[in-house]
Amino acid sequence: MKFDPHEIIPQAYVGREQAYIKHLLLDGYLERLLYIVGWNASLLGHEEIIFVDCFAGPWQDDSDDLKSTSIAISMDVLSKVQYALAEKGKPVRFRAIYMEMDNGAFGRLSRYLSSHSPTNVETTALHGDFRQCVPDILSHCPPKSFAFFFVDPKGWVAVRPEILQPLLARPRSEFLINFMYGFVNRFASMEAQREGITALFGGHFDPDKLPTNPADRESFLLEQYRTALVSRASVGTAKALSGYVTILDPTADRTKYHLIYLTRHPKGIVEFMTQSEKLSGVQAVVRAAAKFEKKNRDNATPDLFGIDANQVDTRGDNGNVRQDLLKKLWLDRIGDKPLMVTEAVFADLICKSNCFPSELQLAVKDLTEQGQIINRDAGQSKRSKNIVNYEKKETLVRTKS
Ligand SMILES: C[S@@+](CC[C@H](N)C(=O)[O-])C[C@H]1O[C@@H](n2cnc3c(N)ncnc32)[C@H](O)[C@@H]1O
Repeated sequence: MKFDPHEIIPQAYVGREQAYIKHLLLDGYLERLLYIVGWNASLLGHEEIIFVDCFAGPWQDDSDDLKSTSIAISMDVLSKVQYALAEKGKPVRFRAIYMEMDNGAFGRLSRYLSSHSPTNVETTALHGDFRQCVPDILSHCPPKSFAFFFVDPKGWVAVRPEILQPLLARPRSEFLINFMYGFVNRFASMEAQREGITALFGGHFDPDKLPTNPADRESFLLEQYRTALVSRASVGTAKALSGYVTILDPTADRTKYHLIYLTRHPKGIVEFMTQSEKLSGVQAVVRAAAKFEKKNRDNATPDLFGIDANQVDTRGDNGNVRQDLLKKLWLDRIGDKPLMVTEAVFADLICKSNCFPSELQLAVKDLTEQGQIINRDAGQSKRSKNIVNYEKKETLVRTKS
């Protein structure tokens, strides 16, 4: 079957398809988060929910409706969820704060908020340099408010943990941070950038430890940054957890950036990675369409028939190797004692392996079928999903080999 690339990538995102994936993730995850947090707001003592777009733009969208920006997308989601919760008898106050430094962009932002803010979401535009305005942002987020910070700069300097520190230490907070890997990778080996790169990794960076293999180097740099974030966001017994999604360059086979998610709630990780899983197939199709368009632009004789669906690889690489690693992860975690699988255990394994929830379940299925483990609470019936149900705190045990 052939499909038309124009039906896949909305016109506003042509040439910046990575932003489309980013926005799909923001849209999908924000909606889930707002429902879950909003539904439990009074139970958890949240007096309101605030979305904070720390690098708002508008950016690369000249239209009046700003449809392809995080501003319009977040406003729509906030409004929709606020109404839906109110209808279910759960009225929650929703606010949105948008920060922008550039004068021209700030002017457009202010005008947009004046004319497009939904009646059920209070919006504020802040003009300034994020690096200097963190205290100002915090003053707009009272202690009993739940806040989701979207940190999406153009470069890598503003995401230094020391700059983010006051936000990271704030209770009732979650984060989605754009880690511009393309830039970081380029600068990591440059002597002239050593100070900045070391600061990015929280003050510790040994260039001699940088792996030469590109995939290992990417994991290494990403882990250094995630570790720096997690250690600052862990407060007392409330340990932070982080997951991430890799956004690839639309037409070249390399990473553009990682969207790192940071929370202190295991449920957040499971939900975030569930959304990411939905996106992985979409990303493959969008990239196939972007590559097809590029090839057509570069070729004198364009292909008029569209993309062959069979040629879109939505599986990702190393499926079997990955599955073996996940099985080992489970076996190590179970050890020689029964393991009660709580949501916290499940989320921790997701963070350690950055796998999707379904992959972790598949590994349990394989291990069970191979007779290496049993689910003591599963009974006789065969399950196609929730092979281990962490909501029921089921127990896995290794069989004697
Ligand atoms: C990548 S764009 C944001 C895109 C937007 N989040 C979206 O998804 O539609 C980054 C924005 O941050 C602004 N910016 C850059 N440096 C900044 C700073 N130090 N403080 C605040 N805004 C900044 C830029 O002008 C630009 O509009």
